[in-house]
Amino acid sequence: MQKYIIFFNSVKKTKKNIFSNLFSIKKLLKRIKLKFAAMYKQLLKPLLFKLNPEKAHYLTFDLMKCFLGNSLGRSISKMIFKYKHPVLQKQLFGLTFQNPVGLAAGLDKDAKVFNELSALGFGFIEIGTLTPKPQPGNEKPRLFRLPNDHALINRMGFNNEGVDAAVVRLKNKKTNVIIGGNIGKNKVTANEDAIKDYEYCFNALFDVVDYFVVNVSSPNTPNLRELQDKEPLTHLLMHLQTINSSKSKRKPILLKIAPDLTDSQLDDIISIVASTKIDGIVATNTTIAREPLSYSKEEIDKIGMGGLSGKPLAKRSTEVIAYLKSKSGNAFPVIGVGGIHSPEDALEKMKAGADLIQLYTGFVYEGPTLIKKINKAIVKQGLY
Ligand SMILES: Cc1cc2nc3c(=O)[nH]c(=O)nc-3n(C[C@H](O)[C@H](O)[C@H](O)COP(=O)(O)O)c2cc1C
Repeated sequence: MQKYIIFFNSVKKTKKNIFSNLFSIKKLLKRIKLKFAAMYKQLLKPLLFKLNPEKAHYLTFDLMKCFLGNSLGRSISKMIFKYKHPVLQKQLFGLTFQNPVGLAAGLDKDAKVFNELSALGFGFIEIGTLTPKPQPGNEKPRLFRLPNDHALINRMGFNNEGVDAAVVRLKNKKTNVIIGGNIGKNKVTANEDAIKDYEYCFNALFDVVDYFVVNVSSPNTPNLRELQDKEPLTHLLMHLQTINSSKSKRKPILLKIAPDLTDSQLDDIISIVASTKIDGIVATNTTIAREPLSYSKEEIDKIGMGGLSGKPLAKRSTEVIAYLKSKSGNAFPVIGVGGIHSPEDALEKMKAGADLIQLYTGFVYEGPTLIKKINKAIVKQGLY
């Protein structure tokens, strides 16, 4: 009897220990959660911002691979960063998004860290821009910070290892996050032949991505933005739609546009969406404008060509979203991107009509806690 009592008491104690350990793990995670926002802004970001921006970019990739490259790291990260709520789920162009906050194109061009990024709570991740052949991009330096304005200027020029290398990585997908494939043309390909480049990337990626974005709006590939004109754009999108229809199940195709288009060019875009029956618009890419900035004209001129992103872009990209939505009578979905650095910025984009949103520069300046903060704010506002 004595033996049984001792055994029973030790089981009770072990159970209590397990529960109290679990409880303290939960408490610890909560503390880590609270600390991480401060840690990124007070420790990691100042260190990264001391480095050349492109070096910092690749160091961040290494850190992500180190901490999130294994399933244990990703599971812990999800407990810290992911915010799940039924209200956040959205059906759009035949896909179910777990939440509306995505990663914009350009950060993981080569699909090297999409598995790791998915553990930070994004609802979808857009890889690319990818081109058929690998290309080095523009000469360095080509990425610049404007910290006083929470902005970046880049003229990367579609540096990527080519679409086929990305396909191999995408086949090793360890996440169920939605993946978008952003496609472009090689610098050496003339605009007259661009259609072949887009076709190549479309076919190569077809089985490994969930939706496509046709990028004709980067300011950093010479003459690319001429493909936004009505005639070549209609031709390009019609061609991709023909290929799309020949597949056993078609995939959504969206078009990414520049914020520098005039109202009459935006009217053309609305009629092109209708005539080509593509699934939606990503608004917007970076801008060639250089305002509103707090730096002197000399300082900005010294940086040179490139696309401006971040806070100074927020107002214009929201205007473009609102224009497309109201002028078309809400005829198609829009992914809103440009200068989202806070939950308030995100809600503004959604109030302008964005169905989903994406982050790039805000993610760099604010860190991964921004994703959860935005999702919580959306639930609180009942915007979805
Ligand atoms: C360094 C950098 C590289 C980018 N590369 C691409 C790209 O390859 N393809 C693309 O469609 N957009 C690219 N973008 C544009 C972003 O996807 C996004 O549309 C733009 O930066 C506006 O959002 P943000 O203000 O949140 O950064 C890039 C942006 C930055 C800052």
